[in-house]
Amino acid sequence: MPDLFSPFTLKGVTLRNRIAMSPMTMYGSTDGQMDDYHVMYLGARAAGGFGLVFPEQIAITPEGRTTTSCAGIWSDDQVEGHRRVTSMIKRFGGVAGIQLGHTGRKGSELPPHKGVNEMGTWKALAPDHPDGWLTSGPSAIPAGGDHSYPVHALTVEEIKGLHRSYADAARRAADAGYEWLEMHFAHGYLAASFFSPLANQRTDEYGGSVRNRARFLLEALDAVREVWPEHLPLTMRLGSDDFHPDGTQFEDSIEAIGWMKEHGLDLADLSMGGNTDDMRDPHFFNEPAGFVPRATRVRREVGIPVATSWNLGVPQTADAVIREELIDVAMIGRPALSNPHWPVWAARELGHPAPFDLVPADWRWWLSNFRGHAPSIGLPPTPEEALAAAQAGATVAA
Ligand SMILES: Cc1cc2nc3c(=O)[nH]c(=O)nc-3n(C[C@H](O)[C@H](O)[C@H](O)COP(=O)(O)O)c2cc1C
Repeated sequence: MPDLFSPFTLKGVTLRNRIAMSPMTMYGSTDGQMDDYHVMYLGARAAGGFGLVFPEQIAITPEGRTTTSCAGIWSDDQVEGHRRVTSMIKRFGGVAGIQLGHTGRKGSELPPHKGVNEMGTWKALAPDHPDGWLTSGPSAIPAGGDHSYPVHALTVEEIKGLHRSYADAARRAADAGYEWLEMHFAHGYLAASFFSPLANQRTDEYGGSVRNRARFLLEALDAVREVWPEHLPLTMRLGSDDFHPDGTQFEDSIEAIGWMKEHGLDLADLSMGGNTDDMRDPHFFNEPAGFVPRATRVRREVGIPVATSWNLGVPQTADAVIREELIDVAMIGRPALSNPHWPVWAARELGHPAPFDLVPADWRWWLSNFRGHAPSIGLPPTPEEALAAAQAGATVAA
């Protein structure tokens, strides 16, 4: 039976454990470049024990970004920054993953921490704002909420051009040293919007039936599969449910993932559709492991390895869903922001015999051989230490 710390092999790549740092948009780039900022925080997560480390969604075109401060890989001169990141992740024992995406209707934003809407979060920028642009989608339907500006409906020729951009980006990603590629087909971004009837009301071969709405995604996958090395994993995060009666339905997603498997998909990462703010049952936002049952259905019904995120940050929860073989890889998002050493901490919490095996060798040596008073090195006591302390009548701070 695997546990959270069992290695996981997909194609020719083995992760040292089942813990992935989930992609998180960072608003830390200039001209779409990766720089010291990205090397620092991604290297820190690799040193903190994550098996797979994703930078943020990486845009395949400038208009595919969330904000003008987001990272991309649409140009050869961006490869070197990515190479620095992958080399740092590898140096600390992680596998470097890249999530390729295009924000579609949900681009042209201010970074959330600079946004000024009533939620204090997102702020869409008008197309004529210096940091804004005309967003695009399957149909000329704004995403809603803050995104009320006009949307350009993509022509078939433009769709083909975007698929070429996916392939070019994938080629650069391989060149930069990434060993795992996830297509971002979720969260209301371009691919997710093609799949959702809420956003896609086309009458050509890209709209209408489930098969037609999946066409943009399948063609993107095909374009990437052609250039991405065969021995490296090709995965995708699907906006599998809009939680709205007129949006993406989970049953349709199961069918579409089956088609993607036939097109060379190696693993499915399940997430929300994100094509409307009017979600009728967004339980997964606050419920521990709230997306796991959907991921498990895909694992069983499609017969493909799965990952998911959403509130897996309690170590016992993440470990249980792996042990029970409900999912194969746990995607850890916000907990990775609050604790770069989340895997080491989780290992300690779960009573793993050698939690410091996850950190670089020289740190490991010191932490294992000169531990001193365990809580003083910032980690909870082992169960044995806690018991011994309790028996001695002492209090050991957790
Ligand atoms: C700051 C931030 C940025 C995010 N950006 C992305 C992104 O670029 N791509 C993506 O697929 N998900 C993104 N997400 C979603 C996370 O990857 C993850 O799915 C979500 O936070 C749920 O996992 P958690 O409960 O462990 O945080 C983002 C989340 C946060 C908090």
